Amino acid sequence: MPEPPEFSPIRTAIAGLPVVEIARKFGTPTYVYDAAKIVARLADLAAFDTVRYAQKACSNLAVIDLIRRHGGLVDTVSAVEIRRALAAGYSPEGSPPPIVYTADIFDAEALDLVVEKNIHVNCGSPDMIDQYGSRAPGRQITLRINPGFGHGHSRKTNTGGDHSKHGIWHDQLHDCLVNADNYGLCVSGLHMHIGSGTDLEHLSQVCAAMEKAAAELGRSLRMISAGGGLPIVYEPGDSFVDLGAYHARWDATRKRLEDRFGHQIRLEIEPGRYLVGESGYLVAEIRAVKRQGGNTFYLLDAGFNNLARPILYGAYHPISVAPADGRADRPIQPVIVGGPLCESGDIFTQQEGGFVARRDLPAAAVGDLVVIECAGAYGFVMSSNYNSKPLAAEVLIQEGRTDLVRRRQTFEEMIAAEVIPAQR
Ligand code: LLP
Repeated sequence: MPEPPEFSPIRTAIAGLPVVEIARKFGTPTYVYDAAKIVARLADLAAFDTVRYAQKACSNLAVIDLIRRHGGLVDTVSAVEIRRALAAGYSPEGSPPPIVYTADIFDAEALDLVVEKNIHVNCGSPDMIDQYGSRAPGRQITLRINPGFGHGHSRKTNTGGDHSKHGIWHDQLHDCLVNADNYGLCVSGLHMHIGSGTDLEHLSQVCAAMEKAAAELGRSLRMISAGGGLPIVYEPGDSFVDLGAYHARWDATRKRLEDRFGHQIRLEIEPGRYLVGESGYLVAEIRAVKRQGGNTFYLLDAGFNNLARPILYGAYHPISVAPADGRADRPIQPVIVGGPLCESGDIFTQQEGGFVARRDLPAAAVGDLVVIECAGAYGFVMSSNYNSKPLAAEVLIQEGRTDLVRRRQTFEEMIAAEVIPAQR
């Protein structure tokens, strides 16, 4: 289990390289990823037979490639995520399948692609069985089951229970198996992802639900997937899950199923946040320091167009200042940190419900840098062009070297698909 990270209000370096130099070289706002952390988190999960990276958390090709080179397989949720996995070097087919498509729907493009490339499909809705079965009868599929309860750090990330649209409702499993059979589809595995922020107490319930579903499926079962949802430490008081205990519970479930069916069953885990969350830093520059009544605001050149988690979920991210002059001896003061957007919710220090909170940070001025930490998961990938802000650059640090892995979006790229109609 990893050591909880140490958060400090001053951060002068990322992965040993000065923040000021990174900002000078690549500009701001820029996402910076520390490859060593991703590799270490992947290694933490080596007890599982397969670690399948949920690339929705951070789908830059360089990150996917890094995980591939270190033995991780990949989960995808859209046609373009499949194409990203292929572009990053994964083979479409193999055993276990290098790429899995897990979703609750196929759009036309995704269905064409999984049929054409023979990508393994994990069906999250009964309709997917008909749509896939009629195009690719005879293939193997897995089913994502909604066990009827869920878990999540916010209502918006809870993915089980009857308020969730995800997965095949547990009591429809039998009908789905009959339907799959009609198309000659072989159901070779079961998957349960019930939400982000799993805890051990909850896990026993999930394992029991998995065993029940497995008993219903029967001997064709070759794989069970624990889904994702491993938590990370965003703030003091958060904790990692005990990975040994987490694996032991799933392993015991797997072993009981192996005894029952008399053959080997592969155990997968499908983390996103755990692999990449802590590795990512959003580096921004302070462009204004304002006093509004009793409050001091640091306004950055990054906003919720770059990192949406605070405005969406009231998510807490550690924030630190990288002083432009390198001096760490600054007094600490309570401040509100916001972005450039024309919207009052563009605040990084907010709680769920939009309540603005103050954060103790070093005194700072225009030109100092701010680092928003633990931003590698659901950071860049959820960014937008709101207010016509270009997408940020992304930089990967490996062995003390920085590589630009996505250049900052240009004006030309932003308007490339737009057309002013000819006036007739
Ligand atoms: N597998 C499935 C089927 C999922 O739906 C998800 C996440 C994962 C794996 C990976 O979950 P993780 O290990 O990253 O918790 N935007 C939200 C998180 C949404 C998660 C959606 N599904 C956030 O910023 O917290």
